[in-house]
Amino acid sequence: MFFGSKGNLVGLDIGSGSIKVLQLQESKGKYFVERFANKALPTETIVDGAIMDGLEVVSAIKAIAADQKLKQKEVALSISGTSVIVKKITLPPMPEQDLERQIKFEAEQYIPFDINDVYLDFHILSTEEGSAEGQPVMSVLLVATKKDKLNDYANAVREAGLVPKVVDVDAFAIENMYCVNYETLPNELTALVNVGASVMNINILKGGVSAFTRDITIGGNRYSERIMQDLGMTYEDAETAKKGHSTAKNAALDAVIAAVDLEIATEIGRSFDYFRTTSSYEDLSRIVLCGGCANVKTLPGRIAEQLGIDTTVADPFKSLDVTALKMGPEALAEVAPAAAVVVGLALRRESDR
Ligand SMILES: Nc1ncnc2c1ncn2[C@@H]1O[C@H](COP(=O)(O)OP(=O)(O)OP(=O)(O)O)[C@@H](O)[C@H]1O
Ligand SMILES: [Mg+2]
Repeated sequence: MFFGSKGNLVGLDIGSGSIKVLQLQESKGKYFVERFANKALPTETIVDGAIMDGLEVVSAIKAIAADQKLKQKEVALSISGTSVIVKKITLPPMPEQDLERQIKFEAEQYIPFDINDVYLDFHILSTEEGSAEGQPVMSVLLVATKKDKLNDYANAVREAGLVPKVVDVDAFAIENMYCVNYETLPNELTALVNVGASVMNINILKGGVSAFTRDITIGGNRYSERIMQDLGMTYEDAETAKKGHSTAKNAALDAVIAAVDLEIATEIGRSFDYFRTTSSYEDLSRIVLCGGCANVKTLPGRIAEQLGIDTTVADPFKSLDVTALKMGPEALAEVAPAAAVVVGLALRRESDR
């Protein structure tokens, strides 16, 4: 096999709950999943998107890479949470090279950090559209990532013997995953919502293009914390209880889960309200949930009920061939929602910007 054949990178999602690795091979326009694994991280290893215990992260990546016998060392990773700021801005139309030079000056107006402390990147959304004043404008997504946070992630990956080639943002990785698996209709608004352990990423797509992103620091940990607090359970028992593995009927547990479902639904609703005030777009057609918490049995229904928007759970493996994983449909369904980011990352190529 040729070195780095086809240029697909290994997806490496360093989540606060678990690390996921996924490798794809593309053949005749179809994607084959060759490797997929996840490894839980102890709590407090990563807090609020910051690596607290670097050694733990390095050894987990090493373990998963060895276990999967990874030969391709070049990876795409991603970050999210408060160390990333994504802003949609409009500018007078200009060639990409000019924008590259200009972006730092533009960013200074929009980024609430010292511009020297962040890495800047941009994605051109449309090269020309009319503004309210009738002047043509281009719209660009500005991405600013705190250097120290990103370096911590990249260094952990390097120390584990892998080579970080692309650093993506969780919200964009799920967009990548979604667009490969699902059809997007030109005028429809779809909200992708990735609810992980500590962060929830929202990305509203109009057609296949991102119109709004936001990260909110709430996730599955909230269920566990509330179950521990209100019902006096240990962390392990709370995790099991949340996953609905105990068959005993428990009204108190159901009530705690319902309260957190509602909290999450309310946060999503707040973001949608904000989105509506900043855009002239019509209503959202659907919400597509992913992340480990998409498996909380009552969450999709509660979001749908609370917000009055059709809510479904994404299958990141929908159009991928997973035969090589030798996993049964039930085992696969249990891990699939949490694979949303890593699938998006594994679709990235080194040449992507
Ligand atoms: N079957 C399940 N039922 C309920 N909750 C689940 C289930 N499986 C996983 N979870 C929860 O999903 C969360 C992990 O999701 P995910 O793997 O998407 O997060 P992460 O990427 O590790 O974290 P983050 O992105 O927030 O840093 C945990 O809180 C976990 O308890
Ligand atoms: Mg995650």
